[in-house]
Amino acid sequence: MSRIAVVTGGTRGIGEAISLKLQEKGRRVIANYGGNDAAAKAFSDRTGIEVRRWDVGDHNACLDACAAIEDDCGPIDIMVNNAGITRDATMMRMTFEQWDEVIRIDLTGCFNMAKAVFPNMRTRGWGRIVNVGSVNGQGGQIGQVNYAAAKSGIHGFTKSLAMEGAKYGVTANAIAPGYIATDMLSSIPENVMEKIVAQIPVGRLGQPDEIARGVEFLTSDNAAFVTGSTLSINGGQHMY
Ligand code: CAA
Repeated sequence: MSRIAVVTGGTRGIGEAISLKLQEKGRRVIANYGGNDAAAKAFSDRTGIEVRRWDVGDHNACLDACAAIEDDCGPIDIMVNNAGITRDATMMRMTFEQWDEVIRIDLTGCFNMAKAVFPNMRTRGWGRIVNVGSVNGQGGQIGQVNYAAAKSGIHGFTKSLAMEGAKYGVTANAIAPGYIATDMLSSIPENVMEKIVAQIPVGRLGQPDEIARGVEFLTSDNAAFVTGSTLSINGGQHMY
């Protein structure tokens, strides 16, 4: 039987590429989305991948959604926490609402989903959790104190979860994408975008599929010895 993979924010952008890659590798994928019904339906019609809507920032909604998936389809073996939003503004202008919304969805969303799947993975002795962080969680970014804090939090969350899962066959790893060509970049002013690309040694934006390949590796059956790691896929923008 195919292993079941849940990908949050799995119908658009990087999440779409991850869903497609895992499907291509024989996983049964359930793609979560937060609100764009039309885009989700178009994605599902195009790919045959099942889509389900819930808010990853809502703790009970995550518990209910994962319980329903396990009832309907079987055990969730692979969890990819990809859902994320930006609400960019410099510190002088950032509101509490912008801070709170990004922390709730980008960081608490990972906790909520891991909380829903980790106990059963542990009991079964097998699980793969991948959390999508960001180069800006590693290096910081003008206009992103909220997003950088959330993404940086993901990296610490991942290491701690990896320690707790290690002896039960559950791995937890992070991917830290750089600037990837998706809708998320559309709000960046053109002159700022030029500055950003100039900071990327390979001289271009990344493609969603380049992130999906990393997720494919970290969720594969033979990646059992890789846990607590962060895979940076950023064109060399941030190295350490
Ligand atoms: N890199 C380099 N310089 C940047 C920058 C960046 N990412 N963001 C802002 N700046 C610079 C601007 O060029 C400007 O410099 P000058 O004063 O020398 O012209 C200065 O910071 C202030 O910026 P703005 O004039 O644009 O100020 P604003 O208040 O009108 O807008 C902003 C501020 C909303 C932060 C806007 O600059 C912006 O959207 N910046 C991009 C922020 C960004 O990189 N977001 C990442 C989104 S993609 C993502 O998050 C995915 C991921 O994981 C990588």
